[in-house]
Amino acid sequence: MKEALKKIKEEALGALSAVTGQQELEDLRVRYLGKKGEMTAILKQMGGLPAEERPVMGQLANEVRAAIEAKIAETKAAVEAMALEKKLESERIDVTMPGRKSELGHRHPMYIALDEMKDIFIGMGFEILEGPEIEESVYNFDRLNTDEGHPSRDWSDTFYFTEDSTLLLRTQTSGMQIHAMESRDLPIRIVAPGRVYRKDEVDATHSPMFHQIEGLVIDEGITMADLKGTLNTVAEKLFGKGTVTRFRPHHFPFTEPSCEVDVQCHECGGKGCRVCKGEGWIELLGAGMVHPRVLEMSGIDPEKYSGWAFGFGLERTAMRRFNITDLRLIFENDIRFLKQF
Ligand code: PHE
Repeated sequence: MKEALKKIKEEALGALSAVTGQQELEDLRVRYLGKKGEMTAILKQMGGLPAEERPVMGQLANEVRAAIEAKIAETKAAVEAMALEKKLESERIDVTMPGRKSELGHRHPMYIALDEMKDIFIGMGFEILEGPEIEESVYNFDRLNTDEGHPSRDWSDTFYFTEDSTLLLRTQTSGMQIHAMESRDLPIRIVAPGRVYRKDEVDATHSPMFHQIEGLVIDEGITMADLKGTLNTVAEKLFGKGTVTRFRPHHFPFTEPSCEVDVQCHECGGKGCRVCKGEGWIELLGAGMVHPRVLEMSGIDPEKYSGWAFGFGLERTAMRRFNITDLRLIFENDIRFLKQF
């Protein structure tokens, strides 16, 4: 039995010295000190020993057990330290490493200009309306007093969906005038921004898709003076005090009289350059007094009510607002350009 105890001690201490993991350590503990372990098996044989040998063997057995327990405790500490070391190593964060920067986007310059315009109009008591880009000819043309034969209805200018020319991509936001008259009680004071489409080739001032902001005011006693006052105020708020505008006579089927409104070129200050094509002025919008026939077609009495409408080109307005010299920059989404706003 003495030999057996010595052997267990040697084996156990040897095995424990080689342990590297917690499970392995636990297996060894069970194997030597557990209820069905080797030490227990030996102690069970004690009963069979002569009485005088028992205390000696008992003491020896206790020593062996204590030695193994001590070794287990020591190994346990070492294994835990190793595990912690490993964990720290794998979770190490190098706080000196440069971080990965995620770039924050921002509004497109044209939408910055649009939001500024919306704020200006809301401040003047206007309501913002939105409407369909796929439109019926009735709204885009007929009820805007634009006859069958009018050149703007031509298939070479307009994207139609149907052979009978009843459904199209709106060529202007002016159809929103009709939607507003249909859906609103008088007096009406609305602006309606949105996309419009025309069969144009892309160049420095043209695109088959662009944006307009329609405006419509109808009430009793509305005159062209209100239109001029409103547009000049908007121009000053948007482009700065002292902004010079020019109202030129023009023609639209749905306004009478009609005009186009220009603003002095930001690039050359009116002398004439590439941006304004030598004109000194940049055309911003068409406008005019709502044609009595347009009012009548929407059930409004032109003897009692009058009104005016305008249609801003949003790209041109944004170009003038931010001194942008080529329309294509607005659509190309070149990050080097967009970052500047
Ligand atoms: N719809 C016209 C255009 O696209 C602009 C306009 C709007 C003119 C309202 C008069 C009144 O050119």
